[in-house]
Amino acid sequence: MAKILITSGPTRQYLDPVRYLSNASSGRMGAALAQAAIDQGHQVILVSGPVSIEYPSQATVIPVVSTDDMLRESSRWFPQCDGMIGAAAPCDYMPKFIEAEKIAKTGQPLQLQLIETPDVVATLGQAKQPHQWVVGFALESEDRHFRAIVKLEKKHCDLIVSNGPAAIDAERNEVELIDPSGAIVTKITDTKEAVAQHLMAEIQRRLIDQTVP
Ligand code: C5P
Repeated sequence: MAKILITSGPTRQYLDPVRYLSNASSGRMGAALAQAAIDQGHQVILVSGPVSIEYPSQATVIPVVSTDDMLRESSRWFPQCDGMIGAAAPCDYMPKFIEAEKIAKTGQPLQLQLIETPDVVATLGQAKQPHQWVVGFALESEDRHFRAIVKLEKKHCDLIVSNGPAAIDAERNEVELIDPSGAIVTKITDTKEAVAQHLMAEIQRRLIDQTVP
């Protein structure tokens, strides 16, 4: 049995007490991966941004709001895990300044200054120990294969799942699983549940069976 950390869902970056930037992510892929991992007998820690779907009751769910929260909680749980799957769509930008009061309308354009948030998968990928593995996702509309390989390297992933924008908030997904040599290990188009089972079977064979005694 392995202990697996899964990040899931969107994160929110508040501009003021009521408005936020976010990503269109339902958390369905994370939920499906969690269920597939549980079905294989693994223990799952799900660090998730705000979602309206339900996660499997056997998973330990750690709710977070911002990308910083997701990084903090993921970094706290990762050392006791065998591996992590980054299925979240963390918000990549945050306002440089957060207003304490609701920003009042003035009739003029509002300029926001945005700065990048930390990358959860890249941070954990860099910190991983020899017995740990990291699987990332890459959502690209163009040049998918090449960009996914660049992300795999940059984020120190052991495998990366490339999918297109049709994956967002959809029931089905079309993915390629790519290894560090750039080879496509598997390609599948199916419901997110079936895709998750397929991906978990590959993760089992290629990563878990190689590391967990
Ligand atoms: O956004 P991007 O396409 O770079 O995301 C690729 C991978 O990196 C995904 O696995 C996603 O969960 C992860 N990611 C992250 N933290 C971010 C942005 C992306 O963990 N701030």
